[in-house]
Amino acid sequence: MLKIGIVIGSVRQGRNAEAVANWMYDFATKRNDAEYELVDLAKYPLPLLGAAIPEAQQKEAEATMKAWSEKMAEFDGYIFVAPEYNHAVGGALKNALDYLNPELNNKAAGFVGYGSLGGTRAHENLRLILGELQVADVRTAVTFSLMTDFENMSVFKPADYHANNANDMLDQLLKWSKALKTIR
Ligand SMILES: Cc1cc2nc3c(=O)[nH]c(=O)nc-3n(C[C@H](O)[C@H](O)[C@H](O)COP(=O)(O)O)c2cc1C
Repeated sequence: MLKIGIVIGSVRQGRNAEAVANWMYDFATKRNDAEYELVDLAKYPLPLLGAAIPEAQQKEAEATMKAWSEKMAEFDGYIFVAPEYNHAVGGALKNALDYLNPELNNKAAGFVGYGSLGGTRAHENLRLILGELQVADVRTAVTFSLMTDFENMSVFKPADYHANNANDMLDQLLKWSKALKTIR
């Protein structure tokens, strides 16, 4: 069975990413067509890539880097649940991706976002980044509006129609994840 990681791409305290990722996980799991797993970026407190690390924190930082690399290497494909910060992907997710390369090569990714325009500018930004990491990004994304799919921009109440895009995105993701597995 294909293994798909659903990455919670925000570490902000009070983040919306968690509720959105949980929704995606529940939705995907009900299809019973792959093994889905939530990967919470907040559980991998990576230092800024290349920044000096105090000696007392060195061992822990190295263990975190190793755990992040090994976890992400486990999957055949990914769903990035990504907020939009200043028309781009958030800094924490970009930093975490900068630690990876072979772990992601020849795998596939789909996107789930939220924002004033559904997080689409973060998705487009992520597509550029993932291209460099040799990840095949699928066309359909799930795009929630902070205005209509959340109460007070913080309580997640998704409209039913998003199920169509979620199914399309998953169909595309699983096809490409399966195909790319044959060339790794
Ligand atoms: C620094 C910052 C910049 C933001 N920029 C945008 C933006 O450019 N477009 C947008 O739609 N939302 C923007 N937002 C709103 C976030 O998308 C929204 O707060 C979302 O809930 C953030 O995801 P998170 O709660 O999972 O961290 C911004 C929020 C912050 C804190």
